[in-house]
Amino acid sequence: MRYLVTGSKGQLGFDIVRELQKRGITDIVSIDKEDLDLTDGNKVHEYVLNVKPDVIFHTAAWTNVDEAEEKEDLVYDINVKGTSYLVDAAEELGCKIFYISTEYVFDGTKSGLYEVDDPVDPLNVYGKTKFLGEQEVRQYSRYFIVRTTWLFGINGSNFVETILKLGNKQEEINVVSDQLGSPTYTVDLAKLLVDMSKTEKYGTYHASNDGFCSWADLAEYIFKLNEKTIKVNHINASEYPSPALRPLNSKLSKKSLIENGFKTLPSWKDAIDRYHEELIEKSKQIDKGN
Ligand SMILES: NC(=O)c1ccc[n+]([C@@H]2O[C@H](COP(=O)([O-])OP(=O)(O)OC[C@H]3O[C@@H](n4cnc5c(N)ncnc54)[C@H](OP(=O)(O)O)[C@@H]3O)[C@@H](O)[C@H]2O)c1
Repeated sequence: MRYLVTGSKGQLGFDIVRELQKRGITDIVSIDKEDLDLTDGNKVHEYVLNVKPDVIFHTAAWTNVDEAEEKEDLVYDINVKGTSYLVDAAEELGCKIFYISTEYVFDGTKSGLYEVDDPVDPLNVYGKTKFLGEQEVRQYSRYFIVRTTWLFGINGSNFVETILKLGNKQEEINVVSDQLGSPTYTVDLAKLLVDMSKTEKYGTYHASNDGFCSWADLAEYIFKLNEKTIKVNHINASEYPSPALRPLNSKLSKKSLIENGFKTLPSWKDAIDRYHEELIEKSKQIDKGN
């Protein structure tokens, strides 16, 4: 089995490659923008047909939600057209394709958990393009669309890192407490995706670490773990204006995973604890000059 991983220098792509390697898999082609710009349709076609993967993990995307508002054409080219080029190549080869999507396809007004077949209504350019990317993937039969939330992983920037940096500079910070979701460790998601790739249980899934919290709850947990006494002021999203609107409810139901016999992910607190250990290990390695 040959695996092609796009976005391999991003948080999730990096951990998918590590997970494959952990399982003794060596036939991996991992690429990022400098290897192949997904907006170049001819090159994508030629490259993928040359590699002949059995499975494509397509994690690459434009992921800066606020900047996306001003760069709609470019974001469309990457998230929609880039995906369609990969899907065309997958179709020619008959391989499996994984597309990582987001809860930002929903508007967040539902009171309960979002199921995979709930109507979508993205509030921002990023969410809109990610949904259009989903639609490209759905034109093909051997697809897995996995919507996830609030990713954090060692190879990239994320909320945990940002909040720790702020905590080094400030004694008090304002954090949004009316957006609820599940922080999700790319290590845990990567394991699930690799498990899924061994099956033919195609379709749309929701996958995030277990349990829900607000960004403010998450910030408080991170500070506690790092033994920092920073005051977290809970504010509403409306008090923290940003270019892109975000859903207040990002809570995804895991029903699709459970019904198909896949293992759900551990709790978000357990995941943050392990990420904390990973960050400590990384800084030790940096100190040693590795
Ligand atoms: N981060 C989240 O909280 C979150 C939540 C839900 C869903 N997702 C989805 O999960 C997936 C993985 O997210 P992530 O946080 O791991 O993303 P990430 O760390 O931002 O990595 C995305 C990667 O895609 C690459 N890329 C961007 N434009 C490209 C292009 N034109 N051609 C080729 N590669 C390109 C980026 O390269 P450069 O850095 O060089 O631009 C980057 O390495 C994405 O599809 C995202 O939409 C993310």
